[in-house]
Amino acid sequence: MASEDGVRATNDDAAQCKRHAVDKGYWKDPYLPLICPKGQPKLPEISIGYYARVKGMRTLLDKVLNLTSCTCQVVNLGAGFDTTYWNLKDQKFAPRNFVEVDYSGITSKKVSFIKRWKPLLEKIRSEDGEIQVSSTELHSQDYHLVAADLTQLSELEKRLKESGIDKNIPTVFIAECVLVYIEPKKSEELLKWIVDNFSTAFFINYEQVNMIDRFGDIMLENLRARHCTLHVEACKNLESQIKRYISQGWEGADAMEMTHVYSCLPKDDIHRVERIEFLDEKELLDQLFHHYCISWAYKDPSKMGLSQISF
Ligand SMILES: C[S@@+](CC[C@H](N)C(=O)[O-])C[C@H]1O[C@@H](n2cnc3c(N)ncnc32)[C@H](O)[C@@H]1O
Repeated sequence: MASEDGVRATNDDAAQCKRHAVDKGYWKDPYLPLICPKGQPKLPEISIGYYARVKGMRTLLDKVLNLTSCTCQVVNLGAGFDTTYWNLKDQKFAPRNFVEVDYSGITSKKVSFIKRWKPLLEKIRSEDGEIQVSSTELHSQDYHLVAADLTQLSELEKRLKESGIDKNIPTVFIAECVLVYIEPKKSEELLKWIVDNFSTAFFINYEQVNMIDRFGDIMLENLRARHCTLHVEACKNLESQIKRYISQGWEGADAMEMTHVYSCLPKDDIHRVERIEFLDEKELLDQLFHHYCISWAYKDPSKMGLSQISF
């Protein structure tokens, strides 16, 4: 298996872990089962890890949507089988434009699922606008699914332009477990391109942290065996996560270990999820939380309040 296939396979893993957690009731997502088939059962600790990841990312995204009264645009980089767009539409909380980017091998599968399932298609169907579909892309009024390699910036720029992305509107970029698969020079170029080109931007990133230890070594070895290289230079600690943004020109940035993010989520919901299954391996959950983080960065020249967004 070539390494690009190895990276794409990580989407199947993430989607199946999320699907299992949704089936168990960790959070509600009526759309994921339409895109991702049932997989192998997962440990409760893995499901809680995904719960914290999904809720953590949504917490920051919701804060930007609130701040901008949904007048912003969202670009989900390496979106895989993510279903945030459909869930936001259900909550009447969708931004003016939502663009998902991934390799064509992933977007082609997602296009076929969207075409197959009415609940997915219905949500993107606008009253007046039509939907343009090819084998790898889909364009509607406020949702676009495009195929591009995130390391090819001119290609990415072209695709975003075709999707109606306006560089002068506040834009949220999401990268959920994606930058770590991209060579550091290329992920830095991507971060620099965004901050140089967009007038107002917010970046939300979920990925590994504190990787300089035995747990990190094992994770790297496991993925290497599956033809997938993790680029963990920015994942040494929280400081290296923050530095990656600041060194590329972002105005401000912060990062939080998942241990901390989890403790910031609503207590009643934490209480609920911890009773879904018996947690046998609390130590494993602590290890997982210690080795993942959410980092975020902003460029906010008009001081609309992006610097205040945090957990
Ligand atoms: C671990 S999956 C995460 C998927 C999704 N963000 C989620 O959290 O459920 C990583 C995704 O990033 C995509 N990806 C990695 N490198 C990429 C690149 N250079 N260009 C486009 N997509 C990329 C993969 O194809 C895959 O869908």
